[in-house]
Amino acid sequence: MAKGKKSIFFCQNCGHEEGKWLGQCPACKEWNTFVEEKVTAARPGAARQMKEAEVVALSGVSTDEEARIKTTIEEMDRVLGGGIVPGSLVLVGGDPGIGKSTLLLQVCQKLSQEKEILYISGEESLAQIKLRANRMGPFKDNLLLLCETNLELIRSVIEKRRPQLVVIDSIQTMYSEEVASAPGSVSQVRESTNVFMQLAKGLGISIFIVGHVTKEGTVAGPRVLEHMVDTVLYFEGDRHASYRILRGVKNRFGSTNEIGVFEMRQDGLQEVANPSEYMLSGRPENSSGSVVACSMEGTRPILIEIQALVCQSNFGMPRRTAAGTDYNRVNLLMAVLEKRAGLHLSNYDAYVNIAGGIKMNEPAIDLGIVMALISSYKNRPIDEKMIVFGEVGLSGEVRAVNMPEQRVAEAKKLGFETCVLPEVSRDLVKGVKGIRLVGVKTINEVLSLL
Ligand code: TYD
Ligand code: MG
Repeated sequence: MAKGKKSIFFCQNCGHEEGKWLGQCPACKEWNTFVEEKVTAARPGAARQMKEAEVVALSGVSTDEEARIKTTIEEMDRVLGGGIVPGSLVLVGGDPGIGKSTLLLQVCQKLSQEKEILYISGEESLAQIKLRANRMGPFKDNLLLLCETNLELIRSVIEKRRPQLVVIDSIQTMYSEEVASAPGSVSQVRESTNVFMQLAKGLGISIFIVGHVTKEGTVAGPRVLEHMVDTVLYFEGDRHASYRILRGVKNRFGSTNEIGVFEMRQDGLQEVANPSEYMLSGRPENSSGSVVACSMEGTRPILIEIQALVCQSNFGMPRRTAAGTDYNRVNLLMAVLEKRAGLHLSNYDAYVNIAGGIKMNEPAIDLGIVMALISSYKNRPIDEKMIVFGEVGLSGEVRAVNMPEQRVAEAKKLGFETCVLPEVSRDLVKGVKGIRLVGVKTINEVLSLL
């Protein structure tokens, strides 16, 4: 290690500082929380050379909205908040094999016509990238490839060539010679991200970083990367189903919680312009325990099918499962049904499933879960042309949810004829014609609907 530089170790939990690595933090007693950090001794006289800092009035700062680079992949642009901001650092996280490399290579394909792009891979060889690219169709010569993991080398290449867009696949493979620990460790990942941040801000290059998600569900350690980058996108989905969802978790230049829906095909990822239609395909006809609910994903309503199966329990302990939604929420709703609507569910097993493998946690699907449970319990099918949304409270009241007009409009667009919604929201959607609105105040009113 170079002279003047030394390493100290910090506990990531409490910030305790040590000269050596320890398994357990002596201050907060947490295990495995120490990370190495590089400390550079300040040069004497550095302060004297410093320029004077200048302050600027907010009104005097000019911005250029037009400068956003459109990827022309609409689902991607939406999640980014309208395109790639020059000089931004974007982290794309997700499970291995979900399609991160494919997505970013497709962005490169779209943009390589007019921009110079550098795709740096630390995971795949040039031939492997070429094989993948072959499946996607023609590429322009503006896409440059580099297979390298050495951070210092990568830095000098970027500084020399100055491409407009850089893709780093993946951050876990990058290593800096100045940090002693192995690639993929928290300090390496942090150091690399820092370097890319400086490059992005200093040269005005947009950089995409791919990050694999650890078993705990965060990118490389306890969220070390998320606060450093401008935008965090998660690419998720069921590996067995073909659709993928790109979700904004943090965005300094746009709203979060927007989603983009893609389908993994033979020739790469295809945009799904109408996710509701896609999610509802293959719905069973005339079967009990199935209902269509509406959940908002950012500004977009998505219709999903909620299925419930309620059957007599053979043992003293009834089984309950929830796939695609919160298990505790399902238990809570069942308790509300038992106490407020007099349904004797304690002797029944209950299985709740959001069809299609998608995950939904919005309270607005409560009413859907409740109706699916009642429908299965009473073995009465629900009208196929009916959709429901509303939050259910502990006293069995049906509460208002946000953006009811958008939900009703989406249902109407897809040909639904009846909409069951909270009574308080009904006045807000009176403007929407051509769909029957049924306002409910309590779950007892829902019970009498079936
Ligand atoms: P990949 O982008 O390599 O995942 P990640 O970078 O997130 O680890 O995606 C790999 C998966 O995508 C792999 O299982 C094969 C599938 N795939 C397709 O189905 N069609 C395609 O055109 C491509 C390129 C990949
Ligand atoms: Mg990959």
